[in-house]
Amino acid sequence: VLSANDKTNVKGLFGKIGGAIEDLGGEALDRLFLAYPQTKTYFPHFDLHQGSAQIKAHGKKVAAALVEACNHIDDIAGALSKLSDLHAQKLRVDPVNFKLLGHCFLVVVAAHHPSLLTPEVHASLDKFLCAVGNVLTAKYR
Ligand code: HEM
Repeated sequence: VLSANDKTNVKGLFGKIGGAIEDLGGEALDRLFLAYPQTKTYFPHFDLHQGSAQIKAHGKKVAAALVEACNHIDDIAGALSKLSDLHAQKLRVDPVNFKLLGHCFLVVVAAHHPSLLTPEVHASLDKFLCAVGNVLTAKYR
């Protein structure tokens, strides 16, 4: 459960990253496909070369969803309800993959914004990404 402090930390971090978060989404996907190639099986229709136009475009969508979740941090389930239906009912992504993508996103934030990612903010961001993953896998059964 995200504490009031976690929410403040995540909102503060997202506020400071600003629009640049769009690129972080794509970089997180690049790392996901390189470090955990089994995740590529969900994207047979994509050009999965590092930095491809499709990865960048998809990264923007993922980042936008994270921003949406951050903007509705007290009701992430409501904010991502449609995405939750999509991932659970149509895409059927194995839940372990959400942890992998969350990890990659955290690494990308650390690489680009080392000074923002204090241990406290790291912990809050990890909890937030976990909460998002839980929402997107909540409708599996
Ligand atoms: C599609 C967000 C995790 C596989 C999408 C879309 C968004 C999104 C916004 C586009 C939906 C649309 O076009 O209406 C997220 C978020 C995630 C996450 C916020 C977790 C933080 C994952 C993971 C996988 C995955 C872990 C698999 C490894 C897919 C696939 C599509 C998709 C295959 C459809 C792509 C396409 O054909 O355009 N996701 N996703 N997602 N997601 Fe996720």
